Amino acid sequence: MAEYIIAIDQGTTSSRAIVFDRKGSIVSVGQKEHEQILPQPGWVEHDALEIWRNVQEVIGVALAKADLTRHDIAAVGITNQRETAVVWDKTTGKPVYNAIVWQDTRTQSIVDRLAADGGVDRFKPVVGLPLATYFSGTKIAWILENVDGARAKAEAGDLLFGTTDSWVLWNLTGGSDGGVHATDVTNASRTLFMDLETLEWRDDILEAFGVPRSMMPEIRSSSEVYGAAESSSLLRETPIAGILGDQQAATFGQAAFETGESKNTYGTGNFLIFNTGEEIVHSKNGLLTTVGYKLGDAPTHYALEGSIAVTGSLIQWLRDQLGIISSAPDVERLATTVEDNGGVYVVPAFSGLYAPYWRPDARGAIVGLTRYANKGHIARAALEAVAFQTRDVIDAVNADAGVDLSELKVDGGMVANDALMQFQADVLGVPVVRPVVAETTALGAAYAAGLAVGFWSGLDDLSANWQEDRRWEPELEADERDRQLRLWRKAVSKSMDWVD
Ligand code: G3P
Repeated sequence: MAEYIIAIDQGTTSSRAIVFDRKGSIVSVGQKEHEQILPQPGWVEHDALEIWRNVQEVIGVALAKADLTRHDIAAVGITNQRETAVVWDKTTGKPVYNAIVWQDTRTQSIVDRLAADGGVDRFKPVVGLPLATYFSGTKIAWILENVDGARAKAEAGDLLFGTTDSWVLWNLTGGSDGGVHATDVTNASRTLFMDLETLEWRDDILEAFGVPRSMMPEIRSSSEVYGAAESSSLLRETPIAGILGDQQAATFGQAAFETGESKNTYGTGNFLIFNTGEEIVHSKNGLLTTVGYKLGDAPTHYALEGSIAVTGSLIQWLRDQLGIISSAPDVERLATTVEDNGGVYVVPAFSGLYAPYWRPDARGAIVGLTRYANKGHIARAALEAVAFQTRDVIDAVNADAGVDLSELKVDGGMVANDALMQFQADVLGVPVVRPVVAETTALGAAYAAGLAVGFWSGLDDLSANWQEDRRWEPELEADERDRQLRLWRKAVSKSMDWVD
């Protein structure tokens, strides 16, 4: 009998395949980074073909490391960087342009054009999102408007759009030879095109963006059998049975199934998700309304989300662009060479500011510099920026919910960083809690797939797998915390209104 589930995590910087057992423990991992293509300031692209090659490779690595074959795998789950848009030719299987990544800001003029008639919140009551460069719909429109021949081909029904879940699913199930063109409700809720109540594409919004409906994938639940891996795949005939956007997957992997539960993931960006149950809640404080998950025919669960564009990618920037650390984990060592931030604040508004500010006109700023400041202070201020941004988002969640979060469940790569987690607890004034399996994104996708094929019998099985690993209690005096927050907010205000 197949005793494992494999999850494919197609993320912003790498693709991974992780094999899980019934306890939700990691059995093996394959991982490969892909190139970040940065053609101009504000532009971020990926080569979708490279991503697909990497996905196949990491599946092979994960299976080989655990000495498994497809016969040991009960189902495949997919999770993904969410708003990154791929448009490809359905006959050749070739993308017509590089994937435009969620962080890319080139679509601001499309946003401005659409917002001229009704403002940035014009579709928000229906789709839960403001008009912003972040969401995939604006990126499809850009490709159709700027790639030679794309519009004519799209109108002739020859092009398909997908976020990277759809791209992987279509290729894994046969590509131009009968691949399944579908996405799940969570990814669909990030396009700007899906009606949160009906869970269907809105023709009027597609029309406003000039996007033919024939390009759009079918919207399915997050946990059901979409198809089987095609015959040349290492996973041939294995059902693909779960899809969740990565932040929703992490929430599911944290077993945050109940209304009022939440998690914060520290990845390329930070994403706080707050489960609002079967209710669609519209934020008054700069949060997004999004789908949390939908298991087969069961009712849809919704969520509020605080999205922060730049956190882990700020540390990569210190490594790749400034060269003050040689590997990402070094940031902790460098940050702890100094006793405090020395008055330095870094506001990483590289893609403008997302939640709760939504200021596309903001750009990155380092403020408070004196002759005394050194690279340790910059490293420390960068880590602190991750925690301060999270505090801003949590203030918005507390204001929307009308009650204060009593603790924060965390996951993702940066939660291995003790200094950051302690500072996070200090800046929030509530405990921060890390589970044993911090790879909750892949775990959530595995859970969705495993539920669909009866590998796990229900949510109780999954909740029973959750275990606390470590807890950080706040230690900073309230006065000092408030002083630092005041300075942080002053720094944020300096980053705004920068773009001409
Ligand atoms: O919304 C963007 C998010 O899905 C990307 O997540 O973890 O790949 O940075 P991550």
